[in-house]
Amino acid sequence: MALVEVNSVWKSYPWRAGLRTELQTVVEDVSLVINAGETLGLVGESGSGKTTLARMILGLVKPSRGSVRVEGIDIATASAAELHRLRRQMQPVFQDPYAALNPRMNVLDIVTEPLVIHAGSGGGRTALRAKAVKLLSEVGLDESALARHPHEFSGGQRQRINIARALALRPKLLILDEPVSALDVSVGAQIINLLRSLQREHALTYLFISHSMPLVRYLSTRIAVMEHGRLVETGEAVALCANPREAYTRQLIAATPELPVGVA
Ligand SMILES: Nc1ncnc2c1ncn2[C@@H]1O[C@H](COP(=O)(O)OP(=O)(O)OP(=O)(O)O)[C@@H](O)[C@H]1O
Ligand SMILES: [Mg+2]
Repeated sequence: MALVEVNSVWKSYPWRAGLRTELQTVVEDVSLVINAGETLGLVGESGSGKTTLARMILGLVKPSRGSVRVEGIDIATASAAELHRLRRQMQPVFQDPYAALNPRMNVLDIVTEPLVIHAGSGGGRTALRAKAVKLLSEVGLDESALARHPHEFSGGQRQRINIARALALRPKLLILDEPVSALDVSVGAQIINLLRSLQREHALTYLFISHSMPLVRYLSTRIAVMEHGRLVETGEAVALCANPREAYTRQLIAATPELPVGVA
């Protein structure tokens, strides 16, 4: 079943060329589906439009043309109530684990904020605390983290806090936009392993964005390759890597030959 359907989506931004303003197309006619339970890997070099596409799926950026459907509902024309429900089901985890965390909030408030915003009180202080402890344990942190602030944690721990927060509303889909590329290799490998086990445990669907072909191959059911805003190749992960059709895909494979140490 398709959880997300992207239908011929385009995104252009105005770009000042001397005295004239031109439109720069950063995503061009992209169509893809994300099936429930799978990991769709999205690869492409810097500037190819991966984050822009992810933000359109999340409803954070409006497509210039085309549509995004989540569970069959077009997010551009959904009612407020539908949008509220769909938003809960898609949660992002971004590259920079520090930028995403409010430095003045403690971990209890960071992790439970989505519950407070989306679900009203979330059931009072005691219930919220219990939920936070549960979420932290799922990402390998314990309750001593609750009263502490983001700056007191390492990069890997901060990304675990981001993941706990992303899981708070029990979403179906995580949009993972280069979730380990700001981390040391060994720390990143631990986060990859965590994402694998969380996916099994919660039957999560992932959109996994990365520059690293081996990592994308390792995690993904299918892979979509982006170049200059266009999807140039899509296929089953193992087959696509064994038999890339496009020269650009072969280049990406050649650019990063090894799976990071510690991924297993
Ligand atoms: N708000 C914006 N206004 C103008 N141009 C933008 C905007 N957001 C993105 N772009 C441009 O769109 C292009 C694609 O950017 P995007 O961030 O989607 O690429 P990416 O594939 O995620 O790259 P990276 O791998 O470096 O994260 C870039 O040229 C970028 O400068
Ligand atoms: Mg990006």
